[in-house]
Amino acid sequence: MAKALVLGGVTGLLGQALTRVLTERGWQVETLSRTDGNLLELSFLENRLAGADADAVFNAVAWTQVDDAEDHPEDALLINRTLPDALARVLKALGRGHLVHFSTDFVFSGPHQRPWREDDAPKPVSVYGRTKLAGEEAVLRVLPERSCVLRTAWLFGPGRKNFVDVILAACRKRDAISVVHDQLGSPTYSLDLAQWSAELAEKNATGIWHAVNSGQASWCELACEAIALTSGPCRLEPIPSSQWPQKAQRPAYSVLDNSRLSEFLGKKPRPWPQALREYLFSEYTPAAQTNKEGAQ
Ligand SMILES: NC(=O)c1ccc[n+]([C@@H]2O[C@H](COP(=O)([O-])OP(=O)(O)OC[C@H]3O[C@@H](n4cnc5c(N)ncnc54)[C@H](OP(=O)(O)O)[C@@H]3O)[C@@H](O)[C@H]2O)c1
Repeated sequence: MAKALVLGGVTGLLGQALTRVLTERGWQVETLSRTDGNLLELSFLENRLAGADADAVFNAVAWTQVDDAEDHPEDALLINRTLPDALARVLKALGRGHLVHFSTDFVFSGPHQRPWREDDAPKPVSVYGRTKLAGEEAVLRVLPERSCVLRTAWLFGPGRKNFVDVILAACRKRDAISVVHDQLGSPTYSLDLAQWSAELAEKNATGIWHAVNSGQASWCELACEAIALTSGPCRLEPIPSSQWPQKAQRPAYSVLDNSRLSEFLGKKPRPWPQALREYLFSEYTPAAQTNKEGAQ
């Protein structure tokens, strides 16, 4: 039985999906969270990684509060670059274990004629994006032969409050909501991402992968689909980003090209509206949502 160590596997949106999916696929799963100790303390990390003796380490820990990162760049850097860098170094010294690390569409910015490919030049415009880019570069530099970086985007799924949950909760309280229509991205289901992550780990995949559901949407289109599927009476007002000022700048276009992943899987990841249906009809219960908020 293959052994996995999932960082963030108890509370994270993706971490919980990984714990569940890997267990279902027959992996023996151990988790590592802040309640176990300080992940930024090297000796602690060395002991835990040596003890876990994992075939694959999945790092779903991150500083994901995009706006907060602007005010705490050093703290964001510690979690988003120093931690993955340390994980890669410890695994290199151990001589065993594949590192599956996660990054973001926010490493890109600016207008673009087509979805971003893995070899397109990144140009982050936020602290979050810059620290995530630094993390992926560190992992691939230290452990290129035993690591992969999965860039994902706009996650929704069970276990932790996400954009879809926030929209549906707002719709239960209000008759109308305003949602940004001029940012385009790749909505992605955390449980689908966890499946692709497991498949990539099982084949010891290396390098960068754009791991997103197929299709693209604006935040407004994603909200509209979620509201339509749950037959809410809420009215949706599309607004430009300029009417929704946020501390961190967001890319106007961060749609990711998932061709490399499609080729690996032998089929295209399903379209996001199909995955959203599964989430809303099989997993989503308003009462079960935690108070924990995931932002990016
Ligand atoms: N969510 C998205 O839309 C999105 C989009 C693009 C990329 N991503 C990437 O996907 C990955 C997973 O994101 P996610 O949405 O699952 O994030 P999430 O739900 O916010 O979970 C983050 C995890 O990191 C843990 N964590 C944060 N700071 C920590 C610290 N100092 N010590 C120990 N643990 C700490 C959190 O623990 P606590 O619960 O204890 O705080 C939580 O388990 C990240 O690499 C993220 O950058 C996410």
